[in-house]
Amino acid sequence: MTRWCRWFYTPMVAVAVVFMVFLTNPASSQPQTNLLIQACSQANVTNTRDFYSNLNQTFGTIRSQLSNNTYFATVELTRNSEPVYVMAQCRKYMSTRDCLGCFDFAASSIRSCAAANGARAVLDGCFLRYESNSFYTDASTPGNQGLCGNRTSSQQSVFETAMDGLLSNLSIATPKLNGFYAAATTSVVGTNTSTTYAIAQCAETLTPSGCRNCLQVAYNNVKSCATNVIDGRAVDSGCFMRYSGTPFFRNNQTIDITPFLQDGSSGNKGATIGGVVGGIGVLIILLM
Ligand SMILES: *[C@@H]1O[C@H](CO)[C@@H](O)[C@H](O)[C@H]1NC(C)=O
Ligand SMILES: *[C@@H]1O[C@H](CO)[C@@H](O)[C@H](O)[C@H]1NC(C)=O
Ligand SMILES: *[C@@H]1O[C@H](CO)[C@@H](O)[C@H](O)[C@H]1NC(C)=O
Ligand SMILES: *[C@@H]1O[C@H](CO)[C@@H](O)[C@H](O)[C@H]1NC(C)=O
Ligand SMILES: *[C@@H]1O[C@H](CO)[C@@H](O)[C@H](O)[C@H]1NC(C)=O
Ligand SMILES: *[C@@H]1O[C@H](CO)[C@@H](O)[C@H](O)[C@H]1NC(C)=O
Ligand SMILES: *[C@@H]1O[C@H](CO)[C@@H](O)[C@H](O)[C@H]1NC(C)=O
Repeated sequence: MTRWCRWFYTPMVAVAVVFMVFLTNPASSQPQTNLLIQACSQANVTNTRDFYSNLNQTFGTIRSQLSNNTYFATVELTRNSEPVYVMAQCRKYMSTRDCLGCFDFAASSIRSCAAANGARAVLDGCFLRYESNSFYTDASTPGNQGLCGNRTSSQQSVFETAMDGLLSNLSIATPKLNGFYAAATTSVVGTNTSTTYAIAQCAETLTPSGCRNCLQVAYNNVKSCATNVIDGRAVDSGCFMRYSGTPFFRNNQTIDITPFLQDGSSGNKGATIGGVVGGIGVLIILLM
């Protein structure tokens, strides 16, 4: 495996983007190219000609697969001394056009890694990674982290409780779902602006238990965000989670996860939110 001695983190947790989305069009009519993390391997390839040729061709194949109504693709070329393995994934609420837009952005962004023999970019709308060895079954690896949005001064326990329950439920249900992807919302009872949005997604080459382990780490990384910020993400090699108090997918793009919540022993804490009223003021102020 390629060594990720160190990720060169470029965390750009752009809460501003979320606000832009809120002010313009409800989510998903955009490629969501907010770059969360980009990292380059520290080792360079030796034969750059072969390498660039392989990279260009694999990226091209990936792109044509993503344009054919798929949201996940792996392509490798091992024909010469510079093998290239590539994985790309779009969030499934994206349109094909927006998925391609996000992929193009990620591909051009990752070019700044030049001849590094591995690189990855995680964006709100998609994920792109290449290595010189197969990494398709990587689930949770060192470098996993939560990225919280800006802090707010207000306490928002109602929001936190609802979000924790939703994220916990997503981490339980998603590994059981075909395609390892779920989008869900929950409401803070008694309010109009009450809907909170979240997604979870795993690389489709993982096993269900790999996906479950990865999302458990992601859930732990992201849940602390909800204490006093209104959006957060968790990034890892094999999975992704995101939540927000503002929409980033459409209400009719949710997936019913309730049938997949049974043996969820790790605490469905959302059950208590029903009795709590009064969060609306906090939430409205936060969203203004
Ligand atoms: C979040 O914080 C950063 C750094 O303090 C700031 O530049 C940015 O404008 C803030 N975004 C919002 C939406 O407040
Ligand atoms: C890899 O190549 C880049 C320029 O393409 C160079 O700046 C960097 O030092 C090289 N890294 C190693 C480990 O040789
Ligand atoms: C690969 O693509 C880059 C950027 O589009 C280009 O500069 C380079 O010449 C291409 N290399 C090959 C071998 O096609
Ligand atoms: C698009 O996907 C379908 C079903 O997965 C497949 O049958 C078809 O060959 C693909 N088309 C292209 C151009 O790749
Ligand atoms: C989480 O799932 C449980 C059922 O297992 C449900 O009672 C609860 O309302 C869900 N929480 C949220 C926030 O969706
Ligand atoms: C919720 O919306 C309804 C109709 O849009 C309105 O009558 C009601 O006052 C609103 N409630 C709150 C708490 O804003
Ligand atoms: C979902 O809602 C959008 C508008 O908000 C609409 O254009 C689209 O057709 C709807 N999709 C489904 C499957 O109902």
